Amino acid sequence: MNDSRFNQQRREQPEPQEGSRPVPKVVLTVIGLLLLWAVFHLYTSFNPMPASVGDDRVAADFAVPATADGGQLYTANCVACHQASGAGVPGVFPPLSKSEWVDASDPGVMIRILLHGIHGPLTVEGVQYNGEMPNFARFSDEEIAALVTYVRSSFGNTASATDAKTVAQVREATQDQKSPWKGDEDLGLLLDK
Ligand code: HEC
Repeated sequence: MNDSRFNQQRREQPEPQEGSRPVPKVVLTVIGLLLLWAVFHLYTSFNPMPASVGDDRVAADFAVPATADGGQLYTANCVACHQASGAGVPGVFPPLSKSEWVDASDPGVMIRILLHGIHGPLTVEGVQYNGEMPNFARFSDEEIAALVTYVRSSFGNTASATDAKTVAQVREATQDQKSPWKGDEDLGLLLDK
């Protein structure tokens, strides 16, 4: 009886041992190496998404231009008649490429056209047009300048740029013009001879 109780006790409560069992050094080393490898891997393989993965746009492409964009204004306001190529529509809408009105040495010619529009016979590249060119007087000086500069340097044109100050001067000088220019009759004098 005594004996079997002693055995029972031994089974339930094993002899206590002194100290705790240390984690084996091998395991610690392996964990350490894994951590080192993880950090090293993160460090060497970190690669911010390259722009080429998407549509090539970078942050700068989304910046809002501080000044008026002549190309955008042209697309929004002129393409319907003068076409994206600036070639116009034969007999109806005159071309802006190689036009004597666009390429005149004085950008004021085109500024006048945009500020007041044209109504009446207008000769462009030897072809006579007789339509209605609407005015864009509601546009700011900056916008007209951007448009004129854009058209004068697009579609094969290589005429000089202009600025808002020049547009303001022309606006002031022609403020008494209450109706559209009468084509050649009003504007012809401004062309290079
Ligand atoms: C509703 C159609 C229409 C729109 C929109 C229009 N134009 Fe015109 N444009 C004409 C017509 C028509 C003429 C010729 C007028 C005539 O026959 O008397 C003309 C003439 C011109 C001329 C002088 C002739 C030439 O071909 O060089 C210029 C420059 C011009 N337009 C620039 C512009 C610009 C820049 C815009 C946009 C801001 C614009 N036009 C928007 C119809 C349009």
